[in-house]
Amino acid sequence: MSILSNYTDGFFNVSAEHGFLPIKAPLVKLPSQYEDLQTVLDHMPVVLSENEFGYLNTEDGIVAPTLAIKNHLSAVEKEEDIFVLQALFRSYSFLASAYLLEPSFQQYRKDGKYGKARNVLPANIAQPFCKVADKLNVFAWLDYHYAYSLGNYQKLNEAGDLNWENITMCNRFSGQPDEVGFIMLHVDINRFSANLVGTVMQTIQALNSGAQTVGDLLEKNWSTMKQMNERRKEMWKASRWQRYNDFRIFIMGVKGNTALFGDGVVYENVWEEPKAFRGQTGAQDDIIPMQDIFSGVIFYYPENELTKYLLDLRLYRPTCVQDFFKDLENSMKTLHPKGLMGKLVENKDVTGLCYLLGILEEIYHFRNGHWQFVQKYIMANTKYAMATGGTPITSWIPNQILSVIHQMEDVVAAITAIGASDQEEANSIFEKNIKLLPTKKGLIDGQLALIHNNDFSAEAVFALNQKFGYDDTK
Ligand code: HEM
Repeated sequence: MSILSNYTDGFFNVSAEHGFLPIKAPLVKLPSQYEDLQTVLDHMPVVLSENEFGYLNTEDGIVAPTLAIKNHLSAVEKEEDIFVLQALFRSYSFLASAYLLEPSFQQYRKDGKYGKARNVLPANIAQPFCKVADKLNVFAWLDYHYAYSLGNYQKLNEAGDLNWENITMCNRFSGQPDEVGFIMLHVDINRFSANLVGTVMQTIQALNSGAQTVGDLLEKNWSTMKQMNERRKEMWKASRWQRYNDFRIFIMGVKGNTALFGDGVVYENVWEEPKAFRGQTGAQDDIIPMQDIFSGVIFYYPENELTKYLLDLRLYRPTCVQDFFKDLENSMKTLHPKGLMGKLVENKDVTGLCYLLGILEEIYHFRNGHWQFVQKYIMANTKYAMATGGTPITSWIPNQILSVIHQMEDVVAAITAIGASDQEEANSIFEKNIKLLPTKKGLIDGQLALIHNNDFSAEAVFALNQKFGYDDTK
């Protein structure tokens, strides 16, 4: 069985050293031969500085500059450096989304409704864009890894770390601080992913070599998740929820968004038929999917459309990340048909089970807090019910949160059957979770009742979370 190594394309390298971040900072600008493209990107954001506005601020302002860009197809065909290919993919996907979605943005400014998007991408953009997408083996649309988030940061102070306040975007749409804070916080959270990937790989290795207890490794995984959740809560400060619509329209995808794009987008001189790819979304991030596979939450996913969507989204990731997920799933199932939980029970590793419970609780916090993001940043701002990834927004709670709660119940039952751990911290996680599980269930039941009520409102969800002590903004 593979020991989970070598998941790299030269840009990402899923490992204990790099986690899910690029192996070094992405290129900020394109090489000089693509200067005309770079210049349009630099002048594109709605706001350039306090008194200066870019092409996207004016109706149709992006059209002429886009059409004037040279067709760089033959230059792109010759590129081999993965860092240049990544910067090209990021550049073309930003330009494609800006050009196509600009009319929807202008309509939104007029009446608060997303208007129809353009649906023909001109050949001078479509051809090199699709070529570079092909070289990276990804869909020709703005994604999370190579384009909008993980491959789009630059440090403000070189000596500083990847704290969201010390990084900014290489390419942007709105140009305002709320867009920067929103997506750079995703990078910030991922700076801890090296520890997380490390503990996942080490746990599998230890169990494969016959270790009877992996409590110490799971403790590290748990504390890293806690750290990530602390950083995640910074969202409320990094990006004001009232300003989410300043940039949200530009990260919409085509699939699932027929109201904007109809049948899809025509990539001129590339494909005959229109194409519909999914939009960039945090659902393409790797932390929670990895933790779901590792902890065994995937065994509790219900069989429905949203589960299918999560699996479909695996394809919207670099091949090296997809390969890592596949091998991870196989490794967990090879350890035990019931994954980590099954193996810990077989080993009677009660300390390990207590930390697994702690990890699940952090996944729960991530999702319940995240649901509060969705309430404020999206639901309180717009009646448009499709997420940027192209899914119906209100359906996310039952799918994910219930799966976590169900597994927590099973882990509690397993610990109860085996007996207490001899470690104080492990036991306190267990005691705390026994007390809080009914609260979590009460909260999810209440939130489900709200979803099924036609008067569903973000304020009601917030009030309920407050009542149960889970207000994420605190
Ligand atoms: C204001 C902040 C955020 C908002 C408004 C938001 C919104 C959403 C929405 C609407 C979905 C549904 C799927 C779709 O897009 O089609 C989703 C899913 C998801 N998001 Fe976010 N998100 C935010 C922050 C984050 C962050 C910081 C992360 C992780 C670094 C993240 C990770 C995920 C994951 C893993 C899913 C898949 C569902 C799951 O497995 O629970 N999101 N998000």
